[in-house]
Amino acid sequence: MDPEKVHEIAMDKIARGLIPGNEVPLEYDSVELFGVHFPNRLGLAAGFDKNALAVNNWHRFGFGFIEIGTVTWHPQPGNDRPRLFRLPDDKALINRMGFNNDGATAVAGRLAKSASKIPVGVNLGKSKITPLEEAHEDYRQSFEVLQSLGDYFVVNVSSPNTPGLRSLQDREPLIRIFEALRTVNATKPMFVKVAPDLAESALEEILGVAIEMKLTGIIATNTTISREGLKTKNEKLKAQAGGLSGKPVYKISNDSLEFLAKNKPMEMILQGVGGVFDRADYDTKRRLGAELVQLYTGWIYGGPGLIPSILNG
Ligand SMILES: Cc1cc2nc3c(=O)[nH]c(=O)nc-3n(C[C@H](O)[C@H](O)[C@H](O)COP(=O)(O)O)c2cc1C
Repeated sequence: MDPEKVHEIAMDKIARGLIPGNEVPLEYDSVELFGVHFPNRLGLAAGFDKNALAVNNWHRFGFGFIEIGTVTWHPQPGNDRPRLFRLPDDKALINRMGFNNDGATAVAGRLAKSASKIPVGVNLGKSKITPLEEAHEDYRQSFEVLQSLGDYFVVNVSSPNTPGLRSLQDREPLIRIFEALRTVNATKPMFVKVAPDLAESALEEILGVAIEMKLTGIIATNTTISREGLKTKNEKLKAQAGGLSGKPVYKISNDSLEFLAKNKPMEMILQGVGGVFDRADYDTKRRLGAELVQLYTGWIYGGPGLIPSILNG
């Protein structure tokens, strides 16, 4: 079946609560971070529940938190289908969804009517029709309508599927975005999500911005544009445009996490994401310095019992 069709069916069943699971959040190594209680430290990464359709139900699978989005100011359809591909030989996915979402106002309305039993992060991106020079206004408008509805917020400047978006990881535009968010005058914990393809000098620059703008932390990482070392033989599949996730991104996202952990100030919080499939992967991200860990592709291949099996063995 088309992977996106599978996704839609699964999302529909999860949203309607038709998949049995835990009634209460799974408690394991629980922690209080930036004033929020996390029953466990393993969350669902952004991109799965882009529109906050199933926030009442994610605890059923054992997740300690979820990150909804990416949400943009303008509702948008994303790229043409097909735009999601499975590379089973690599335990990987390629996606070029392009921030398909209902827009910040609709998602805010949905969140306001939901009651998640676990913390909810809200991941923000730039609408495709908004010029790059006005990106900061797009993020600010989304944040304004969503700010009271999330436990933490993420400025996503690392998706490869919105033209020019990753250039917002440069110092000047990034500062403009966080300055614009500051004018909203909220006190919500704020993260920036980075690509795994950045040189150490670029990560250093982002650390500088994060310190200057008093961010809560950094999420490392998004998908990669690299196709290095893939086992998949199908050249056409490998060459699909988009971001690669899953096992092939594990090492480079760990390298980014490790570099950030070694160079960050003590109080800065790191979230590690990229290629987590089992307990050892989770432990490695924790050991490298991630207070919180997220996954997406591992859950696609591992199935709905994966989180309890990682946390409880
Ligand atoms: C189909 C798909 C859609 C995604 N959409 C988003 C998104 O909207 N925003 C975002 O920040 N990351 C998005 N991601 C990236 C994931 O959140 C994560 O950073 C990346 O996939 C690496 O983790 P993984 O190897 O566990 O999948 C998406 C990933 C996939 C596979």
